[in-house]
Amino acid sequence: MKIFLDGADTGELREAITWGLIDGVTTNPSLLAKTGRPYAEVLAEICSMINGPVSAEVVSTQAPQMLEEGEALARLHPNIVVKCPVTLEGLKATAALSKRGIKVNVTLIFSPLQALAAAKCGASYVSPFVGRLDDIGHDGMTTVEQTMRILRNYNYHTEVLVASLRNPLHVLKAAELGAHVATLPFNVLRQILCHPLTEVGLEKFLADWHASKQKIV
Ligand code: E4P
Repeated sequence: MKIFLDGADTGELREAITWGLIDGVTTNPSLLAKTGRPYAEVLAEICSMINGPVSAEVVSTQAPQMLEEGEALARLHPNIVVKCPVTLEGLKATAALSKRGIKVNVTLIFSPLQALAAAKCGASYVSPFVGRLDDIGHDGMTTVEQTMRILRNYNYHTEVLVASLRNPLHVLKAAELGAHVATLPFNVLRQILCHPLTEVGLEKFLADWHASKQKIV
């Protein structure tokens, strides 16, 4: 499973890259707004830090403007993947951008049929939002499971990029389902790497080693 960092904080990205796990980045307008920096500047910096797909979202709601924004975003760097929402206008823009050879990540997906529609329009990625479905009492992972099955049934090359992940169990389930990509916020990425028994075990190993007063070689 590919792991993307879900965020626009370049400090966090710099740190996460050193852990050797990051294959790409997803951003959204809320995450970019939080940086307080110009949209294009942050995206260009992210693209200079990581050699992998970087999702950048359009903010217009009508297809012709989405198309213009998508083309402008794609010109920033060859690794930019344009994010379009799964609205009717977003699907029109997805089809047009895909036809022009620009990769599209269709976002804000909450049902498997929305994902199927996005795949039919040529999306390179579909992003089901798991946490936001869980928040309203639905099982977000069921949408991922159904999406995986449907896209497999028809041999779509569209990758399922599981988004809105809030905890390590979400990541585990995404991996068990064979999702192509999981995009993790920095805190969840850290959580999946830490285990209290690892810390306790290491503490004991080191205490015993120091007590033995030996040298490593
Ligand atoms: C994905 O591309 C989105 O940026 C993100 O996963 C949304 O997560 P949230 O529901 O925690 O805001």
